[in-house]
Amino acid sequence: MSGELKNLTFFVRTFGCQMNESDSERIAGILCRAGAKKAARPEDSDLIIVNTCAVRKKAEEKLFSYLGRLAQIKKKKLVQVGVVGCVAQLRGLELLEKKFGVDFVLGPDNYGELPDILRTSPADKHISTAWSAEWHDTPLDLALHESTVSAYVPVMEGCNNFCSYCIVPFTRGREKYRPLSSIVEEVEDLGRKGFKEIQLLGQNVNSYRDPRSGGSFPDLLRATCRVEPIEWIRFLTSHPKNFTLEIAETMAAEKKICRQLHLPLQSGATSVLERMRRSYTQEDYLEKIAFLRRLMPDISLSTDIIVGFPGESEKDFEESLAVLREVRFTNIFSFRYSPRPLTRASEFKDDVPGEEKSRRLAEVQALQKQIQLENHGRKVGSVIKVLCLGPAKKTPHLYSGRDEGYEVVNFQSADDCSGSFVNVRVTGFGPYSLYGERIPVS
Ligand code: SAH
Ligand code: SF4
Ligand code: F3S
Repeated sequence: MSGELKNLTFFVRTFGCQMNESDSERIAGILCRAGAKKAARPEDSDLIIVNTCAVRKKAEEKLFSYLGRLAQIKKKKLVQVGVVGCVAQLRGLELLEKKFGVDFVLGPDNYGELPDILRTSPADKHISTAWSAEWHDTPLDLALHESTVSAYVPVMEGCNNFCSYCIVPFTRGREKYRPLSSIVEEVEDLGRKGFKEIQLLGQNVNSYRDPRSGGSFPDLLRATCRVEPIEWIRFLTSHPKNFTLEIAETMAAEKKICRQLHLPLQSGATSVLERMRRSYTQEDYLEKIAFLRRLMPDISLSTDIIVGFPGESEKDFEESLAVLREVRFTNIFSFRYSPRPLTRASEFKDDVPGEEKSRRLAEVQALQKQIQLENHGRKVGSVIKVLCLGPAKKTPHLYSGRDEGYEVVNFQSADDCSGSFVNVRVTGFGPYSLYGERIPVS
């Protein structure tokens, strides 16, 4: 099929999580393999693909405002618009209504159909949202990675947890796992291409099982650690229920696995956690954190918090703040609860008023900002190892990278060190990043 779409230019706009970013890299790879070319702007392309997120109402609304923008482009030139990802899976046919100007809709299990769809007439509106129970392996070397330094490697997809607020099990389906041999092959290929870091991706990544051997997530970690040129390995997202002590011990035993973990708490109140169907208590969560810190005292921890879940009292909310004060996370992602279709919690009364949700969110964020400023202040003067990802986007005279704890570090360097590990002396900070100067590796 190579070359068939050679006059086609395309643009992919991605909303949502790392899994969507990774899927977009694979979509771009599928199109390039068929001969199409990537454009820098939607205005310059014949095909615009919008990869969507449905996790909160606001995320879903982004699709509709973006489609409004695309309608302006459509007035001026002939352009095909495809909606893919989680809103495509959720809304399906609805998206093909004339008012949206959408030409085709593909769910997350259907991206392989893209070249076929583009070969047919654009007038034939197309929709595929069938789920597959099996992992669809894409050919090795397919993804068109955004970075040449750090790569996403999907290892599982879907979620069987059905947290009561969450739409993901309805957009990504049940868990399915990629064969371990296929993952290792891809990681080896990335190593040969000079990538330094990989991030293993899955909605519930720690429940990974090799469909062939039954090997567990620690087996997967050990196998990827054996791939020589890769120096840093991360994974996300962990559910505290599936993040076992064995996984923690494997992290501690393997030097390549970054001392960094994103472990979503959602709420600090055990009664709220129960209604969220998270299957752990505040104590269980804190015990896991204590175990991790005993094994790896310098581990960097981040989390997700939802405020204003149905029935969350002021006292419950205080429990979330108390956990933030106790754990002192490196970073958090915090959200106002938003009822989602098909979920159990959408049947609960959404009884925390919007204003109160906003107040709680602001309080969580103010507390966390203060913690991050204090954490960062203590780092001034120290020398940290940074993987340089390239010039900083907003301040091109600086380089930007991440340290092992996944902190953003912007720094001065006399020469281009993109793709290398460098030593940086921390000289300044903001709440969300560190600043510094590169110093010679001793
Ligand atoms: N699989 C991951 C990511 C899920 S979505 C996990 O288990 O953590 C990312 C985050 O969005 C969640 O952790 C949660 O904090 C938030 N989220 C999910 N559904 C939400 C909802 N209905 N309202 C507000 N936040 C939500
Ligand atoms: Fe959603 Fe819960 Fe699954 Fe995460 S673990 S994707 S929050 S259902
Ligand atoms: Fe959003 Fe789908 Fe990811 S709902 S968070 S893009 S799995």
